[in-house]
Amino acid sequence: PFLNKLAQDNGKLWFGTAADIPGTAEQTDTQYLKILTNNKYFGEMTPANMMKFMYTEPEQNVFNFTGGDYFLDLAEKNGLRVRCHNLVWNSQLSDWVTSRNWTAPELTAVMKNHIYNLVGHFGGRCYSWDVVNEALAGDGSFSSSIWYDTIGSEYFFLAYQFAQEAVEQTGADIKLYYNDYGIESPGVKTTAAYNLVKELQSRKIKIDGVGLESHFEVGGTPSVAAQVAAKQGYIALGVDVVVTELDVRFVQAPFYTAAGEATQAQNYYDSVASCMKVGPGCIGVTVWDFVDKYSWVPSSFPGQGGATIYNDTFQRKPAFYAIGEALTGA
Ligand code: G3I
Repeated sequence: PFLNKLAQDNGKLWFGTAADIPGTAEQTDTQYLKILTNNKYFGEMTPANMMKFMYTEPEQNVFNFTGGDYFLDLAEKNGLRVRCHNLVWNSQLSDWVTSRNWTAPELTAVMKNHIYNLVGHFGGRCYSWDVVNEALAGDGSFSSSIWYDTIGSEYFFLAYQFAQEAVEQTGADIKLYYNDYGIESPGVKTTAAYNLVKELQSRKIKIDGVGLESHFEVGGTPSVAAQVAAKQGYIALGVDVVVTELDVRFVQAPFYTAAGEATQAQNYYDSVASCMKVGPGCIGVTVWDFVDKYSWVPSSFPGQGGATIYNDTFQRKPAFYAIGEALTGA
């Protein structure tokens, strides 16, 4: 099954993937690239790293757009759209940001300059930007971060205000998103995400969508009903939702048993089906890379893995076919 083609034909949504390109083995892996650049499989690409702070502003006010431009060139050449990722996060920051004691006005100026330059440079080549990434803790409060600890909660709203200003300067239609994990089913963190959207809206600041990362564990994903309910909550506020980083990892080996893969397939099915079920407000599903050998999971969770839809030798797993079924309503 051609997953993106099915997504577009049956759901008017995209099926996409993250890719960690350039500067990695993937960049020259012909087997990988053949699948990635086939628009029938993938209609969207998200840069796993190359647009993040440490790569794009390695020294203060010295910008490096080489990686991001390479990524966009590859996507455009093959007819894939790009969700640009991300502007303000507490991870993968440059040393010059983290190694100083900033005053709030100083760090606000750093944030504004970063946002203006990235949005300005990449412009309308970005379908959307994840403006603030992973701002919330599990209890619904703002997480500790250099941004929050220095500027306070206003950093969040300022980030969107600056992004809106930068978008307006480009004259392009660029959507602005909030992206997080743990907001895929009803709960305190999800309610907190709703409240951030509402607060932006009440301040008349641009917010177009919410990214539900959906990094799940085999056998531990929320039910379809729960995933539908959470998505409907965002959509009721008038914003779109995207499943932005879907993967379903095994928390321990073995990763390739028939029973395990069947459970994993059902978990992938449920997440994709939840997007199909909510209708027009869920506009895309993106997996966080599609082949196990390039998954982020083993390096971040030693001993865990098997999280994607192709095994290390590019064999499709049951999850691949389950996604096809979810996209056709089977
Ligand atoms: O660039 C260095 C390279 O020079 C070095 O040789 C290599 C050795 O390990 O490391 C490279 O940096 C790695 C970087 O990815 C680029 O490949 C970092 O160690 C590694 O920590 C980093 O991991 C990324 C992770 O974000 C960082 O938090 C993953 O690739 C990326 O997939 C992951 O993506 C995040 C999303 O942005 C936000 N949501 C969660 C998601 C998964 O963690």
